[in-house]
Amino acid sequence: MSERITSGIYGLDELMGGGFRKNTINIINGGIGVGKTTFCLQYALFGLNREDKALFISLEMSKEQIIRDCIALGFLEIEEHIENGNLKILHIYGEDLTFPSISLIDMIKKNIFQGSHNRIIIDPFTYYSMFLEKDKRKSISTIFQNLREFGTTIITLEESENINSVKAGSMMPLYLADTVLRLDNLGFGEMFDRTLRIVKHRGSKHGSSLYPYKIESGLGIVILASEHDISNVTPTNKFDKEFIASIKESRTNDKVGEKLAKRIELLRNNWNHIESPEYILNLVKRKEKIQ
Ligand SMILES: Nc1ncnc2c1ncn2[C@@H]1O[C@H](COP(=O)(O)OP(=O)(O)OP(=O)(O)O)[C@@H](O)[C@H]1O
Ligand SMILES: [Mg+2]
Repeated sequence: MSERITSGIYGLDELMGGGFRKNTINIINGGIGVGKTTFCLQYALFGLNREDKALFISLEMSKEQIIRDCIALGFLEIEEHIENGNLKILHIYGEDLTFPSISLIDMIKKNIFQGSHNRIIIDPFTYYSMFLEKDKRKSISTIFQNLREFGTTIITLEESENINSVKAGSMMPLYLADTVLRLDNLGFGEMFDRTLRIVKHRGSKHGSSLYPYKIESGLGIVILASEHDISNVTPTNKFDKEFIASIKESRTNDKVGEKLAKRIELLRNNWNHIESPEYILNLVKRKEKIQ
């Protein structure tokens, strides 16, 4: 399994196979005031309070506004990280962008920390997706490819509409990203007022429900997934006996036995269903002509 970078969001990593995958692009998509910037700050600080460095590219809020919001949330250590040089906040004015792909990558390259894992944040990326009308796919793809080399990135995308009817400008980044999380706010103050959905999480098992979340002083975003939700995405060893028997049987086939045994072992390590794998294992054995 690829190395995981913890999100720092309470209750989220256990729904995402341990967190973001290292050196990936992760999009936080959602409407106004859903907590996108809070997510970014929490992600940055969680890493900074451990061994990571962070580069925060802000296209909307000034450095002072970010520090103020961060302190209001109770993340008081932000100033210490800036003073120690482990957190850089760069404020660019979105409306001043001319040829974004080159300038953005150059700027990140200049500011990246050497010898440490970099948590990179671009908040919001919306300006870029609006700007890059011509040759959009190529430019965004190049930006993403570069970012993957620099570290593990979170970019936010403002989207007031439903995830199923995204604006044209958002389509390409959502398509090219490794992970997309969708935040929504209905605004009724009910349990499911604020919800998070893991739209995609490449190369990983993940929860597929709608999870309620809250924003709490001192903590930031807290996902309220139930034990049931978590056990749904946590592998179980309840069916080890069935798996081991099938692996043994597979090996009796000279031609595909070893390959199949490896695949069934992988299936075993990822089995998170309450149902027995017996039906599926029999199906595989029949198809592969084992028995
Ligand atoms: N201490 C707090 N306690 C509870 N809720 C808070 C707290 N601080 C912020 N919030 C909630 O978080 C919201 C703003 O979060 P944030 O700025 O992260 O959202 P955003 O999605 O980045 O917004 P924007 O669209 O303005 O970029 C506020 O509108 C408020 O509802
Ligand atoms: Mg914001």
